Amino acid sequence: MAKIGTDLNSFILEEERKHPDATGSLTMALMAIEAAAKKIASHVRRAGLADILGKAGTTNVQGEEVQKLDVISNNIMIEHLSACGEFFALASEELDEAIFPEEGKNGKYIIAFDPLDGSSNIDVNVSIGTIFSIQRKINGTQEDFLQEGKNQIAAGYVIYGSSTMLVYSTGSGVNGFTLDPSVGMFLLSHPDIKLPEKGKIYSLNESNYKKWDEPLRKYVDHLKDEGYTARYIGSMVADVHRTLIKGGMFGYPADKKNVNGKLRLLYEASPMAFLIEQAGGKSSTGKDSILDIKPEKLHQRVPVFLGSKYEMDLLEKYMNE
Ligand code: AHG
Ligand code: MN
Ligand code: MN
Repeated sequence: MAKIGTDLNSFILEEERKHPDATGSLTMALMAIEAAAKKIASHVRRAGLADILGKAGTTNVQGEEVQKLDVISNNIMIEHLSACGEFFALASEELDEAIFPEEGKNGKYIIAFDPLDGSSNIDVNVSIGTIFSIQRKINGTQEDFLQEGKNQIAAGYVIYGSSTMLVYSTGSGVNGFTLDPSVGMFLLSHPDIKLPEKGKIYSLNESNYKKWDEPLRKYVDHLKDEGYTARYIGSMVADVHRTLIKGGMFGYPADKKNVNGKLRLLYEASPMAFLIEQAGGKSSTGKDSILDIKPEKLHQRVPVFLGSKYEMDLLEKYMNE
């Protein structure tokens, strides 16, 4: 196992050396994400000012229009992911259609991302994040994004919390890196993250309780009877980050109003499911693993449950009774 404190670039290169046939493409791709993450993090740290000003539609001292943080983050992701030349196509939660950057015309990969997750939390100084999912290019059309989540080559997120962290997996475990602001480097702080088999926390927007189906209500009641406590941040990245480390469960279920839930399969559900399963947890729509869903469209929504084995098995028991 890599040593705590190893910097992200050394770690990525070390991983590449384990695959003698590797061409370095994935390494370049991950480094582009890292660079974008650092840039977004620096904007997030100034968000208290920039986003409020952005909302007011004012101009900054250079006379430029001040942009909102989700627009800034989206642009930074597009700029870095295009320039690295490794991505044939990019799909963003913020864009209607995929884009095919000129620099990536020989790229082997495609990437879907949520440039800024939890945007309703920006104004109140609560953790937000960026989520990404990398898959292989197949035919070179937008349809390439409609692959099952289990085909992901890599997935991860950046959380802009009390510290900035980058957590990712290439399919052999999950590792977390914390940004050391004094040197501007991500350092390995959470090697080989594994969820506990059972946790103590459930995490759902319980204001929807009355709109949920009976089996889900009974399941949550069961967790309460077992003495679980509730935590819900409202930024998926932050809620999943806590679940990865402490176990328990996070969910955004379907309800009477939102029959497919709220979260997007490609940008949110699938990459997070990949990480949770890589860390020994389980993902579910209530019936099957999220990683087995064959997407039908880019912005498809899906009910999401992620967590420790115990809580997820119990959920599926209730949901499939
Ligand atoms: P985004 O900011 O990218 O639109 O995503 C917000 C999502 C997700 O982060 C979170 O889990 C969920 O919205 C919270 O929704 P509710 O406010 O309905 O609980
Ligand atoms: Mn989101
Ligand atoms: Mn978003």
